[in-house]
Amino acid sequence: MPEVIYSLAGKKVYVAGHRGMVGSAIVRRLASEGCEILTALHAEVDLRRQDQVEAWMGKNRPDAVFLAAAKVGGILANHTYPADFLYDNLILEANVIHAAYKVRVEKLMFLGSSCIYPKFADQPIVEEALLSGSLEPTNESYAIAKIAGLKLCAAYRKQHGKDFISAMPTNLYGPGDNFDLDSSHVMPALIRKAHEAKVKGEKEIRIWGTGTPLREFLHVDDCADACIHLMKTYSAESHVNVGSGEDISILELAGLVAEVVGFEGQITRDLTKPDGTPRKLMSADKLRALGWSPKIGLKEGIADAYHAFLDGHYLERSNGTVSGDLMGQSDISFERAKTSARHAPTHATVAHHPSR
Ligand SMILES: NC(=O)c1ccc[n+]([C@@H]2O[C@H](COP(=O)([O-])OP(=O)(O)OC[C@H]3O[C@@H](n4cnc5c(N)ncnc54)[C@H](OP(=O)(O)O)[C@@H]3O)[C@@H](O)[C@H]2O)c1
Repeated sequence: MPEVIYSLAGKKVYVAGHRGMVGSAIVRRLASEGCEILTALHAEVDLRRQDQVEAWMGKNRPDAVFLAAAKVGGILANHTYPADFLYDNLILEANVIHAAYKVRVEKLMFLGSSCIYPKFADQPIVEEALLSGSLEPTNESYAIAKIAGLKLCAAYRKQHGKDFISAMPTNLYGPGDNFDLDSSHVMPALIRKAHEAKVKGEKEIRIWGTGTPLREFLHVDDCADACIHLMKTYSAESHVNVGSGEDISILELAGLVAEVVGFEGQITRDLTKPDGTPRKLMSADKLRALGWSPKIGLKEGIADAYHAFLDGHYLERSNGTVSGDLMGQSDISFERAKTSARHAPTHATVAHHPSR
């Protein structure tokens, strides 16, 4: 086990984006760290507003920050609103990172995603592939904002000696995911399709394309665990990939989902639909070398996600604005609409700040 260089025990820890899929998982995981968790509703503090961010940070003075808030969405949303994706994310992360510097936050973690890497990066994608080629054009605005965020952390580290680090998670799934069939990622879409087919007694479920593309998945609770591990043990300029280091074909995944859900019909392929990138896998070597590996196997994780779906622990979406991160599997799904009623953190009781 690597040495703990930053203990969260007794610290005031601000989770920005605590109602999102990732932020809520971080809140659940932090419950066992003996820290005080600080959160602020979007309606209370719009992170795009420097005055609001600085006032809240000045009043609450966190010791540590997880920056899991972002404006996120799929191909269609990125294509339609490139200015929003670039502006909102740049300003949001600049506000939080600069305010954290001003109020002397001891440690900050910035969360990005695998879309920061060049479209044609060698697989598995190592951290050093950053800025070595052109980005995927469909999510360039978002990717550029995320690259700016991790570079901003590195710059505050260099210029001001701040312990600000960055983590880049792969495709995540689990509680809090979007199960809307028009806008969801491949994993929740398969779970919902298989479930509904089982309930209706249907004989087949259909997947897009040949089913041969390979994708990587990580349960969101594993992601949160990795983030806390890095927060406690990692301090360096370079960002760290957070993934399982393993990929699976979409067809195999569909088979696994069907098994977990108990759907016994056939899985057929819609060959009129595109396959997208043949493979997208991030290297997990650095994270492994830092002493972390996933604890939730894919089958177990799918079962957990299915139970979250059955329990209604997912996001009710309505059309209009977007949230969610489809970058890693954006060729398989298109749009993720903003929630109308976000889930509350579950699995743990968290101590919210009295101001909430
Ligand atoms: N989900 C994935 O598969 C995945 C994969 C890789 C990386 N990531 C990264 O993880 C991070 C979080 O993703 P997620 O999937 O958890 O997204 P999410 O479910 O959409 O959550 C985003 C959170 O950010 C908050 N937020 C957005 N704009 C805000 C603003 N202006 N002021 C205050 N709060 C704001 C949202 O609050 P409201 O809902 O109240 O608006 C929400 O709580 C992102 O950086 C993303 O790139 C996610």
